[in-house]
Amino acid sequence: MDGLCVCRAPVTRAHILGTGSYVPERVLTNDDLAKLVDTSDAWIAERTGIRARHVAAPGELTSDMAVKASVHALELAQTRPEDLDAVIVGTVTPDMPMPATAAFLAHKLGAKKAFAFDLSAACAGSVFGLSIAQQYIQSGAAKRILVVGVELLSRVVDWTDRSTCVLFGDAAGALVVGPSPDPARGILSTHLHTDGAQANILAIRGGGSKHPQSAEVLAQKLHLVSMNGKEVFRFAVRALTDAVKEAMGANGLVPGQVDHVVAHQANLRILEAVLDRLDIPMAKAWTNIDRYGNTSSASMPMTLDELNRAGKLQQGQNLVLMAIGGGMSWGSGVIRW
Ligand code: UT7
Repeated sequence: MDGLCVCRAPVTRAHILGTGSYVPERVLTNDDLAKLVDTSDAWIAERTGIRARHVAAPGELTSDMAVKASVHALELAQTRPEDLDAVIVGTVTPDMPMPATAAFLAHKLGAKKAFAFDLSAACAGSVFGLSIAQQYIQSGAAKRILVVGVELLSRVVDWTDRSTCVLFGDAAGALVVGPSPDPARGILSTHLHTDGAQANILAIRGGGSKHPQSAEVLAQKLHLVSMNGKEVFRFAVRALTDAVKEAMGANGLVPGQVDHVVAHQANLRILEAVLDRLDIPMAKAWTNIDRYGNTSSASMPMTLDELNRAGKLQQGQNLVLMAIGGGMSWGSGVIRW
């Protein structure tokens, strides 16, 4: 699978200067879901590793969640919003189709000089955003970029479809990216891929030019997430395994040199299958899918934030990133912390 590899030794290396995350207050457990659809805590936990997920409050917006995660990341990075050069938001659940959620986020933060845009790479949105930020920082075109993965999927899942509604949760994760203080540390490489031939296995079909909003679109539930779970599962295991091999190979890393796996958590079994194929023990992966479910683009930065705030990351350690989502789009990367 040939894709974009951004792995030349840069003049200025990009690094993550701050991390932040946010989950809404309301928790929906598997037992709560068993009251809505024909499912059980045992089925969901065994097939996915999920035990609970958070759901946004009525009136809470995607950009509101993004603000909360961003404030935490900016604090840690000791960066003022007005010093941001760019704001990149990965989301498939924007406040509205236009303008970008990134525009609302930049305004709410007071990031007055930043240009701001959304990118659509579904669950891989944060890895795509991080790779773009890496380019701007390495080239010297920007000094501070805020990358956010945020999803409010509870508004676009079919709450009568047990095969999808049990999977997703609402959350936001944020990363502040800037020049590394030490050229030996930072984002060593990122690797992005897309296969549009797989577009049908995970999609929101309605609301765009193909199926503009109409009573029929609503009646057929085309505005909600549809997924061929088995196909997504199979594709994800293969693609992520290859992408991580690509990232490790680009940096001359063998499995024993990987200190942490920071993965988008779609299903615990996907992660277990990928790490098994890579010969990396599951103990290297920080998991939180049991508490949050699949939070799409928020998952990777939120996981990195938890590791960071738990004091688990030491200077010089090798972090491997991976994420995959609708498109299908997927990516990987290596950070030397
Ligand atoms: O970020 C990427 C987003 N998506 C994913 O990562 C999803 C990847 N796929 C998966 O995680 C899994 O395919 C699922 C968890 C969605 C489904 O697990 P599975 O082991 O592939 O189950 P299945 O679709 O083969 O369904 C097995 C059975 C079916 O019943 P029958 O036909 O055998 O009678 C389903 O109707 O399980 C049934 N089922 C459920 N039963 C209880 C499906 N969903 C549920 C449920 N509770 N929530």
